[in-house]
Amino acid sequence: MSNRRVFMKTSLAVAVGVAAGHVTPAMADSVSFPKGIVYTRENPGKWSQKVEGHVPNVTVEGNKVTVKTNHGMSDAHYIVKHTVVSQNGEVLGEKTFSSSDTEAISVFEISSGRSDYAWVRTTLYATSFCNLHDLWVTEFKA
Ligand SMILES: [Fe+2]
Repeated sequence: MSNRRVFMKTSLAVAVGVAAGHVTPAMADSVSFPKGIVYTRENPGKWSQKVEGHVPNVTVEGNKVTVKTNHGMSDAHYIVKHTVVSQNGEVLGEKTFSSSDTEAISVFEISSGRSDYAWVRTTLYATSFCNLHDLWVTEFKA
């Protein structure tokens, strides 16, 4: 398994593990991800000049969640994957991109059958992974 693949799996596992860390909605704003592994708009670490091109932008319309990363797509540098993950660590949706895709945008239907679903907006996490600039997470309500 390539180092990139191991890093990606490890990074996502850490992010999901943190997200699954029994965080209640009231605590959600205090979640901090491991520095140097997971990057956010608030904590971009060494990638502070890369925020706008890497942080996942999330739009919620009803049960439709759109994730977009404003990042170019080329063979040398592209967004590899998006996911939407619940607080319990359940992956509610994922899309893998190739360098030939024209943009990093994904749309997910968040099912009312998901295990943590309630008729109130709940905290979810959108991830975006760049092949050069690592794993980024945006917390949102849906
Ligand atoms: Fe990048």
